[in-house]
Amino acid sequence: MRFVINNPFLDPDRQGELYGNTARLASRSSALMRAKTAGRPVPETIVQLAQAHRAGSDRRPGLVADIGCGRGTSSRVLAQQLKPQRLVGIDASPALVTAARSRVSHHPGTQVAFLQGDFHHLPLSDDSCELAVAAFCLYHSPDPGRAIAEIARSLAPGGLAVLVTKALDSYSDMDALIATAGLDPHAERHESLYATAHGGNLADLAQSALDVVAVEHEEHRFEFSGLDHAAEYLATNPKYDLAPGLYGNPGALAAALHEWHPDKPITTTSVITYVVACSVGGRT
Ligand SMILES: C[S@@+](CC[C@H](N)C(=O)[O-])C[C@H]1O[C@@H](n2cnc3c(N)ncnc32)[C@H](O)[C@@H]1O
Repeated sequence: MRFVINNPFLDPDRQGELYGNTARLASRSSALMRAKTAGRPVPETIVQLAQAHRAGSDRRPGLVADIGCGRGTSSRVLAQQLKPQRLVGIDASPALVTAARSRVSHHPGTQVAFLQGDFHHLPLSDDSCELAVAAFCLYHSPDPGRAIAEIARSLAPGGLAVLVTKALDSYSDMDALIATAGLDPHAERHESLYATAHGGNLADLAQSALDVVAVEHEEHRFEFSGLDHAAEYLATNPKYDLAPGLYGNPGALAAALHEWHPDKPITTTSVITYVVACSVGGRT
């Protein structure tokens, strides 16, 4: 018997649609980043947290792993700013691994590699990593505790993990925009895409395999310039039940929104949660 999965972020059959090509993720990230008005840049914040909490942070780390690395945006900043001896990016999507390889090619003194792999079975030896980062990816697991146990297995004694996620109600104003236009009347009632690993449960999940040393929540604010800009982001949101031709088609979605809403800036928020944790007993 096959279960019906209502959350597209957890549906194995939809991962190809979500991450099978780089263009979707790049245009989604670009629309969101152009809208951002407040909130620290995430890759740089991860580096600052690692520097603040890593034992022996005055020396270069050995191995740093960027788990669920996507196109390598965080990997590049980790390589540039931490200058580890080795940086390994791991992602389930072959297309994104290829993109990351071309975007983060060479850093003097740092050996960089990108591997296709599943964070439930990390291609990393036991006790090998001084820093493991998992940003905006654990909510793709139906059982993120398993992925965190894998991170714990791969951490060297005293090694640090920085886990990053979003709040359950992230971008809820965008759901309201879709619902009030009648494009998906249930838009505000779908399960959050971040249901399995969100700001409210990530520290508890981490604590099951690691020692949590710090938790930070930070509200990020966004202002989309108008309906066209909002549609660039919304057209790639897989949780809506839109009429055929609207999903993945920002122009058509924008035209549908224009029929119902005046064209004005749209503001929304997402609280980002950073959990910093170390291997159990790793603190002295
Ligand atoms: C939203 S992207 C985040 C990318 C990057 N960490 C960032 O912050 O920009 C989520 C990534 O998680 C990856 N992913 C999903 N399930 C995975 C799994 N089981 N193992 C490894 N990576 C996975 C996807 O392929 C995608 O690249």
